[in-house]
Amino acid sequence: MNTKNIIDQLYREQNLSRNDFIFLLKHFTEKDAAYIAAFARKEAQKIYGTSVFPRGLIEFTNYCKNNCYYCGIRSGNANASRYRLTEKQILSACENGYQLGYRSFVLQGGEDPYFHDEKMAVIVAKIRQKYPDCAITLSLGERSRKSYQKLFEAGANRYLLRHETADSNHYHMLHPDSMSLEYRKECLWNLKDIGFHVGTGFMVGSPYQTMENLADDLLFIKKLNPQMVGIGPFVPHHDTKFRDCPSGTVELTTFLLSILRLMNHHLLLPSTTALGTIDPKGREKGILAGANVVMPNLSPVAVRKDYSLYDNKICTGEEAAECVGCLGRRIESIGYHLEFTRGDYR
Ligand code: SAM
Ligand code: FES
Repeated sequence: MNTKNIIDQLYREQNLSRNDFIFLLKHFTEKDAAYIAAFARKEAQKIYGTSVFPRGLIEFTNYCKNNCYYCGIRSGNANASRYRLTEKQILSACENGYQLGYRSFVLQGGEDPYFHDEKMAVIVAKIRQKYPDCAITLSLGERSRKSYQKLFEAGANRYLLRHETADSNHYHMLHPDSMSLEYRKECLWNLKDIGFHVGTGFMVGSPYQTMENLADDLLFIKKLNPQMVGIGPFVPHHDTKFRDCPSGTVELTTFLLSILRLMNHHLLLPSTTALGTIDPKGREKGILAGANVVMPNLSPVAVRKDYSLYDNKICTGEEAAECVGCLGRRIESIGYHLEFTRGDYR
């Protein structure tokens, strides 16, 4: 089979064998990428039209007890300048976002024990009470089932937890022994079972990643069947041991976005800030490959530079209003528009 036939099969069956995924990822051409992107756009548009859904991202703490080797805010990075937003600051970021039109908030942070279950549940409940018409997404890493349950009951609707890599050997190359892929997956199944809309995902081009690993990522996602998938290029951070590793590429990231769209036409699929960081038109290219979500920053400008997962992150100097204006123009330049709704899975 050639790559075009494999893409046709993926389009027909919404899945491929492991070997076919590997073959496709190893051999796809620029022409294949344009071919699959056209299918991906067509299918996304059948469900969501030309809407792109903005999620207001509030990066509320960069304290983290984990030490993922690739991440700039890992616990072992003594050079990271640490911050936590107060409850008041988090609520005021939501208010600012609400006034700008956002109806979907994402609270993301390192795994910071300071935000224990009671504290986090109070914050979620206050946001829920004040903005009953908004979706609340959490991205707080690994927690117990009980903790997830509590946050769900407090009013959170969605949870983002990238599995990072579906190969446990690769997982151990990227994480210390205290972390495991098994537990990460257990968290995802728990979240699903509780009733969250779940997002998982991985970095593209992370150190030591092979096309076989990526095929396993795709098959794991097929099995989990999440509502959201977050993928973005790995980008090195100068204070990690992967500082000299190359970034992931726009070509492979956008090709994978198209594959994911064909595997589930309904997915909420962000065109990530990391993609915009490695290419000035990266987010536009992501949308044109089948993505339909963007996550502009709502965090106070004073702390943005400190939420430094990787080097040269974009949008760290702009006010929330400037960012959303800029993104709106970018999205319109490619024939799409920002839709300021909850942007639920359809
Ligand atoms: N602590 C939460 C968690 O573990 O899910 C949320 C924050 S964590 C920093 C968010 C995501 O950032 C991770 O899932 C990872 O894929 C991504 N990330 C971290 N370092 C990165 C890097 N150097 N390049 C690209 N993405 C990175
Ligand atoms: Fe943030 Fe352009 S999207 S400045």
